[in-house]
Amino acid sequence: MNITKIGVIGAGQMGHGIALVAAIAGIDVKLVDDRDSGLQKGISSIQADLNKMEQKGKISAPQKNDVLKRITGTLKFSDLSDVDLTIEAVPEKEDLKLRIFHELDSICPPQTILATNTSSISITRIASATKRPDKVIGMHFMNPAPVMELVEVIRGLATSNETTQTIMDLAKKFGKTPVLSKDYPGFIVNRLLMPMINEAVFALMEGIGTREAIDDAMRLGTRHPMGPLALADLIGLDTCLSIIEVLHRELGDDKYRPCPLLRKYVEAGYLGRKSGKGFYDYSGC
Ligand code: CAA
Repeated sequence: MNITKIGVIGAGQMGHGIALVAAIAGIDVKLVDDRDSGLQKGISSIQADLNKMEQKGKISAPQKNDVLKRITGTLKFSDLSDVDLTIEAVPEKEDLKLRIFHELDSICPPQTILATNTSSISITRIASATKRPDKVIGMHFMNPAPVMELVEVIRGLATSNETTQTIMDLAKKFGKTPVLSKDYPGFIVNRLLMPMINEAVFALMEGIGTREAIDDAMRLGTRHPMGPLALADLIGLDTCLSIIEVLHRELGDDKYRPCPLLRKYVEAGYLGRKSGKGFYDYSGC
């Protein structure tokens, strides 16, 4: 199936990045959010990213304008009635995703593929909110989406071979490398990454090292581009907590128990970069 027009649902951190990646690949994008302020913030971030790319000489001014023209912001789900694919990128709340997929199923034509950028929620369960489970799939981008090379492609129990092939091909068209994962909690990346981040928070809580010592140890000792606490701040501590909770609940193993300090930070509203404070302070950024 040839994808020429897509809808991205959610103009937040991941959604606006995915919209930008798609538009750079020459695809028309409708970017949907339920709040005007969220939509405007997403579009401003896209403009800022494109301005940086222009300043660095990665794209010309006319190319930048072409990319921008391919992205239309809207507050109406009904505008998605003519797209080939939707990619949902709203917060990791299962009831919210189920509601959105139910609505998309009634708005989009029968051939439209409905993808989710979920980082941990079962694709099979999300698909059950629709009458087209063969066309529901996980297309999981990494943060920041414009920079990271990987897209995890996750098949639900009923996802068809055709849907999977279309999404694998599209990820390549986006300049990414797709990796196929089965529909198990956390898929591949978060099954491995979140226990490490959670353990780093335990190390901080137990006073094994300062935040800088823990991050430097992993950065310099294992060549990670950033330490686990700084990475948690980039991802969002609420997102990290909700993923580790999914692993704990659905795999039923206490080795995935969320660190109490991580929970406490989230309760305090210390969500990382997006709230201005997490393990580090971003108020001056
Ligand atoms: N949006 C767009 N571009 C960005 C960006 C953003 N948010 N952040 C950085 N960049 C670009 C910069 O403009 C720069 O581009 P050029 O090479 O063209 O100059 C490039 O990325 C490198 O950025 P910086 O020089 O500012 O900083 P850096 O070299 O330290 O790289 C980083 C920043 C790319 C974030 C790097 O530290 C990194 O790779 N960190 C690890 C990120 C990671 O692991 N992400 C996956 C998280 S897991 C996930 O997302 C899944 C999930 O479900 C939770």
